[in-house]
Parts: sequence; C-alpha cells; structure tokens
Amino acid sequence: MIAGLDVGSTKIATCVGQYQDGVVDIIGLGSTPSSGMRKGVVVDIEETTSSISQALDEAEQMCGSPIPSAVVGISGSHIQSTSNKGVVAISRADGEISENDVDRVIQAAKVLPNTPNREILHIIPRQFIVDGAEGVFDPVGMNGIRLETEAIIISGGSMAIKNLSKCVLSAGLDIQEVVYSPLASAKALISKQQMELGVALMDIGAQTTSVTIFEEGDVLHTTAIPLGSSHITNDIAIGLRTSIDVAEKIKIKHGAAKAEQYNDKDSLDLSTLSDMDNDSVSLKYISEIIEARLNEMLLMIRDELRSVGKDGMLPAGIVLTGGGCQINGLTDLVKETLRLPAQIGKPLQPLSGMIDKLNDPLYSTCVGLMMWNLENHGSIRQNSKVDFSKMGTAVDKARGFLKQFMP
Ligand SMILES: Nc1ncnc2c1ncn2[C@@H]1O[C@H](COP(=O)(O)OP(=O)(O)OP(=O)(O)O)[C@@H](O)[C@H]1O
Ligand SMILES: [Mg+2]
Repeated sequence: MIAGLDVGSTKIATCVGQYQDGVVDIIGLGSTPSSGMRKGVVVDIEETTSSISQALDEAEQMCGSPIPSAVVGISGSHIQSTSNKGVVAISRADGEISENDVDRVIQAAKVLPNTPNREILHIIPRQFIVDGAEGVFDPVGMNGIRLETEAIIISGGSMAIKNLSKCVLSAGLDIQEVVYSPLASAKALISKQQMELGVALMDIGAQTTSVTIFEEGDVLHTTAIPLGSSHITNDIAIGLRTSIDVAEKIKIKHGAAKAEQYNDKDSLDLSTLSDMDNDSVSLKYISEIIEARLNEMLLMIRDELRSVGKDGMLPAGIVLTGGGCQINGLTDLVKETLRLPAQIGKPLQPLSGMIDKLNDPLYSTCVGLMMWNLENHGSIRQNSKVDFSKMGTAVDKARGFLKQFMP
C-alpha cells in the first residue's frame, strides 16, 4: 500500500494505491476542506492536524485499512531553487571515478553560503564536469583528477517544513519523505520525452501558483508565487459586491479566461445562484475581471521563464494543473500570453479505480505524491529490504555454524 498526502490551502487530499502488474490501482482517496493553511503554509497547527486526520479517516474507510505512512507534499512561496557548484578531487590513486566521489561532489554542492533557517528538500545534479570536460551525465568509471557538478537545489523555509511535519505526525501518520509538490505532480503528468524537450508545469492552486521548468530530463528552475485562483474569486466578490460563496459559484460555472468569449449582451441573473441577490450582471464584465488577474499571474510566470532564457522557448510547452486551471478558455489565454503550446495535464501511468477523480487536476498532486512513493519507497525497495533481512539471518546462521569449528 502506497500513499501520498497533499496539504493544500483549500483542501487536503490523500491518495492510496496498490501496484500490481504494471497498473496502479487506486483503493482510497480522501479529500476534506483545509483549514489552518494560508498560501501553502501552516498558520494553525491544531486546525491543520484535524483536517489531515479527517482526510486520512476518509481514505482509510474507503480502502478498509489504516494508512501508516505517506509521502507528503509541500509548496508555497518560501520554496526557492538555486543553482550551485560542487568540486572534489577524485579519491582513487588510479583516477577512476567511484560512486563515492559522485556522492561527495553532490554533498559539496549542498553547501550554500548564507542560508540560515532553510532546509534542502532536493538536490538535482544537472551535469558533471570531469577535468573541465562539460556535459557528463554519469561520471562513474571515467578517469580524471577533478570532478565538478552543477546542481539545482530546492530548499524550503525550516519553519514551514517543521510545522507541516508536526501536523502530519500529530495526525498519526509517519512521513516517508517531504517532497516539493510540483516535482511529484510532474511524475504523474509529464512524460520523459516532454522533460527532455523542455516543458513547464504550472499548478494553479487556490492561493499559490507554481511553475517548474524541466529541460534535458530534469528540473531547470522552479518558483511558487503567492497568487492563485482564490484571488480571482475575491476580485469577483469585490467587483460585483457579492459574497465569496456566490463569487466562487460564478467563477466555476460561468467564468471565462478571455473576456471575448462573451459579448456585451450576455448577462447572468444572480438570483439563480443566491437567494440574497437579484441583480443581473454582465458576463463580459466578470470575464474581464478574471482575465485581468490571470494576465497578472501569467506575466509573472513569463518573467520567470525569461529569467532562465525560456520565454517562448519550450518545445513541449506548458502543462497546466491545479483546481484553478479548469477555468474555461485558460489554455488559449496561456498559449497567447506565453507564446507556447498549452494543455491540461492528465495522468500518464495506467491507473485503475476512481478514474474520473484521478483525471481531475485538483488531485494531480496527491496522485503524483503517491507515484513518488511507489518509485522511491515502494514495493521494489520494500521487497529488497525483505530480501536483505533474509540474507542477514542466513549470514548469521552461517556464522553460528562456522563458529562451532573455531577455537
Ligand atoms: N471548475 C473550476 N473552475 C475554476 N476554478 C476552479 C474549478 N474547480 C476548482 N477551482 C478552483 O481551484 C482552487 C483549488 O485548487 P487546488 O485544490 O489545486 O488548490 P490547493 O491545492 O488547495 O491550494 P494551494 O495549492 O494554493 O495550496 C480553488 O480556488 C477553486 O476555486
Ligand atoms: Mg495545491
């Protein structure tokens, strides 16, 4: 049984799967509204803990057994990606590079100056350099004197990581790993080929939007901005002077990313959505509000793409996910503003059980976290652990047997 837990700003989702014959069978999915989180970080430990417990209960009831542990996702604007270099001298006298040298050079790249209160979540080597020769993918077995690496380091605020971990542990769940959520979503939604060519994953959540750029098979850059789909809801509520609930319904049912989708005469009678309102509002005006906010977000993302020289330069384009990507006409607006192909991401891995929910962009992060679990802590590793322990007892027995003959 493998599980992923996504603690979002508006909902907490947990996904439990079983891997059999190349297919992941989803046996449990729990989702509850999240309280105690703001912009992707915990602001109330008790409330977050109780929301996590509820999501776990729901998933446990569905799969009929307790969930002991999960891979937990984290995001928010405290996440930073930096590139850093590490350099070591090759240790063996004959100059052959060993696994140990590679480990040491990666450790050397982990040393960042002036980073108090930050914790490294991931270190991703982009390339190795052997005696000045760049572009080495796997240096083990090569010969040289000096080994360097250029790596991307993804770090988060220590407090944000600690507080989230505390809530998860208090809810009775062991943490297998804390993973930067977009890396997990990418596992579920982006193919190796897209990652090779160059692609960006854009997760529009409620209060955060992350963009993660992949090229040559790995992460090139990532950032999370503290703006999301709930800001659109707030803008509509202010613009129409309605409640947040009505604004949310308007956004989901009638919202459009491009104002040109409606003409001046299209109107919406608010009494169909609420007993308290009886005005008629222009749908074009609502979509102008939405378009303005989406443009602001997309321009920030364009700046991020530009900062790494990828503005308009990603052949596999933009893959959209997160609840906020479902707004009508968003892919067209993204194509126009970022001058790149755009599509809504769908899980790549064959999944069975609850397919309709699994294709929903709201759940791609928790599905991705479950996949991450499968790949890094899943059945293959656990089986090998079992084998090792068996080997251990066999070795002990052999030792005991040999001891009989020793003086
Ligand atoms: N059909 C829809 N059209 C437009 N927006 C939608 C739709 N369905 C959900 N949303 C919006 O998606 C947001 C929730 O998305 P999601 O669950 O990905 O966020 P989250 O993970 O809780 O938040 P975050 O990632 O920011 O911490 C809400 O703001 C909601 O209004
Ligand atoms: Mg999210």
